[in-house]
Amino acid sequence: MVLIIIIVLALINMVYSYEPVQPIPQRIEYDREKAELGKLLFFDPILAKDNRTSCAYCHDLYTKCGTDHKPVSNGFHDRKGKANALTVFNAVFNFRLFWNGRAKNLVEQIYGPVQNPVEMNMTTKEVEERLNNIPFYRKMFKKVFGTNKIKFEQVAEAIAEFEKALITPNSKFDKFLRGEIQLSEEELEGYKLFKKLGCISCHNGINLGGNSFQKVGVLHSYPWHEYYPDRYQITRDEFDKNVFRVPSLRNIDCTYPYFHDGSIKTLEDAVQLMAYYNLGFKLSEEEINKIVAFLKTLRGELPEILKGN
Ligand code: HEC
Ligand code: HEC
Repeated sequence: MVLIIIIVLALINMVYSYEPVQPIPQRIEYDREKAELGKLLFFDPILAKDNRTSCAYCHDLYTKCGTDHKPVSNGFHDRKGKANALTVFNAVFNFRLFWNGRAKNLVEQIYGPVQNPVEMNMTTKEVEERLNNIPFYRKMFKKVFGTNKIKFEQVAEAIAEFEKALITPNSKFDKFLRGEIQLSEEELEGYKLFKKLGCISCHNGINLGGNSFQKVGVLHSYPWHEYYPDRYQITRDEFDKNVFRVPSLRNIDCTYPYFHDGSIKTLEDAVQLMAYYNLGFKLSEEEINKIVAFLKTLRGELPEILKGN
């Protein structure tokens, strides 16, 4: 009996290892108490100078899959930013954060928006002062971290712990990968095209992206502007113009508009542009529809930490 189980597990493992995409784990380990504190902070505009722009203002978790559905975000006093809001869902699986990968992990990332003049426009000191003035937060931080004084590092740690919990498992595609269900013929053909055409060379792994830096405009050059949030901003190397951390395609039908500047409204257009600029050819309408049908199977469940309230 045990032997049979071992053989079955080994077989399942073999099947998975042949697929270039892995399902999102159904559960992830995190510190529930710390994450619940992080959740309060994520929704609290106290972290922003104008007392209005909470993290959730640009990362709507309940109706917009962790984005704001604007081409580029506007934050503090409606100042316009330069980048399309990336989703916070499944961000824990990305090897670097932000379009140009300038943050190494979720904790480091949080220093970005809080201090960004077009986002929350605060200093870490101001955040500490505000929170330390609120008995409720003092009590909560004491409970979670065991200290009497709230420090920004703890704020970042708590929010990052909450973000860790923001995974969206059990999409139709993941159930297919686990052998639980079949895809429709159109969806399956879309997945096959996605692999055959080469989309998979950049969009692979657990997030179908999020694990490498790649250029947009590999085969046909793509327009460039100096304000784009690309790798060039960090390295000043000509080659890095229009090089981005590949975005994840998880929940992609719900994270529109597309591309770093939010200039692409529909998934159909995003797919066509990708094929043209990065693979060098135009797709037929039928091919696009199939790929889009496949991409729609990547919509996962609401993270467990958001359910029930
Ligand atoms: C004013 C809108 C705005 C606010 C407020 C905001 N963000 Fe963002 N967020 C963005 C935009 C835009 C990006 C992409 C910026 C870039 O890559 O240059 C982003 C990127 C991110 C990413 C990176 C995701 C990835 O896959 O790389 C994370 C994580 C994130 N934000 C979390 C937060 C947290 C936590 C807060 C609150 C402390 C917050 N954001 C506040 C707009 C906002
Ligand atoms: C050479 C690497 C590469 C290949 C091949 C590639 N992509 Fe992309 N993909 C990227 C990069 C980089 C971006 C970010 C582009 C930007 O923001 O300007 C992206 C963005 C996208 C987006 C928009 C994501 C978002 O959140 O805005 C979609 C959808 C997409 N790709 C689908 C595809 C499909 C479908 C194919 C195959 C036809 C494909 N990609 C081939 C690298 C690649």
